[in-house]
Amino acid sequence: MTGRLVGHRTIVTGGARGIGGRIAATLAGEGADVVILDRLVAEGSHCAKEIGGRYLEVDLTDAESAEAATIEAVGLLGGVDILVNCAGIFSRTELVDLTISEWDRLFAINVRAMLTTMQVAARSMIPAKTGRIINLASMAAKKGGAHEAAYAASKAAVVALTRSVAYEWGPHGITANSICPGYVLTEMGAGTRTPELIASWEAMSPLGRLATTDDVAGVALFLALPASGYLTGQAFNVTGGMVTH
Ligand SMILES: NC(=O)c1ccc[n+]([C@@H]2O[C@H](COP(=O)([O-])OP(=O)(O)OC[C@H]3O[C@@H](n4cnc5c(N)ncnc54)[C@H](O)[C@@H]3O)[C@@H](O)[C@H]2O)c1
Repeated sequence: MTGRLVGHRTIVTGGARGIGGRIAATLAGEGADVVILDRLVAEGSHCAKEIGGRYLEVDLTDAESAEAATIEAVGLLGGVDILVNCAGIFSRTELVDLTISEWDRLFAINVRAMLTTMQVAARSMIPAKTGRIINLASMAAKKGGAHEAAYAASKAAVVALTRSVAYEWGPHGITANSICPGYVLTEMGAGTRTPELIASWEAMSPLGRLATTDDVAGVALFLALPASGYLTGQAFNVTGGMVTH
């Protein structure tokens, strides 16, 4: 720890495990005061304890609960300087079988929850004339993918939403960027992976491997630091070269 984020009040949604958990730990490791918002009570409490942060239980697909929990988190922190939206879900469905309820289920957490947390955070960031917003999209936002149309569309929406935030809140000193990881072997989609599939993914990267949670957390940390203060409206690939646009 070098203390580069000491005093930075930080909210991480989906920080109970996986990529969000690693980002929460990385930012806390630099001294950030972190509140995790997640629906997984055991994992969220454990992660918060490990990093010296706090945890609030919330199902972010419920708009009222999402707003109330974010307001509570801002209150606990006494404001918010950094908001990282990681909470999300994946689904693999053939397009002809994709139901409206499945589509809505993905968009409710992957996109709409993000809108709510950003609106609440902005009430604190705009008067303070500073803030960093970091939203988890996916390389699926840029390339799409067979059997993941709803997921890819929701992540493309994240990229467009984040760009719009950058334009609208930039004059208030707020930056907003999205991160587009490639494949990371977290719990997400664990049941849909075979060794053959993983090998085919590894072969897609010029680096010959998949992303780790640390690969993604390193980019999130950079986007939270003063060094990245002139970056906004961008969608950063963390794909080992699988996607380059
Ligand atoms: N794993 C990958 O390959 C990959 C690739 C690209 C992008 N992403 C994105 O990164 C983010 C984190 O994914 P991950 O791989 O760490 O998955 P994960 O399943 O390990 O973590 C997701 C977290 O979000 C939380 N969450 C989900 N729905 C919630 C809800 N309704 N309310 C509150 N919390 C909720 C979960 O409890 C969990 O802690 C997601 O937005 C995902 O789409 C992941």
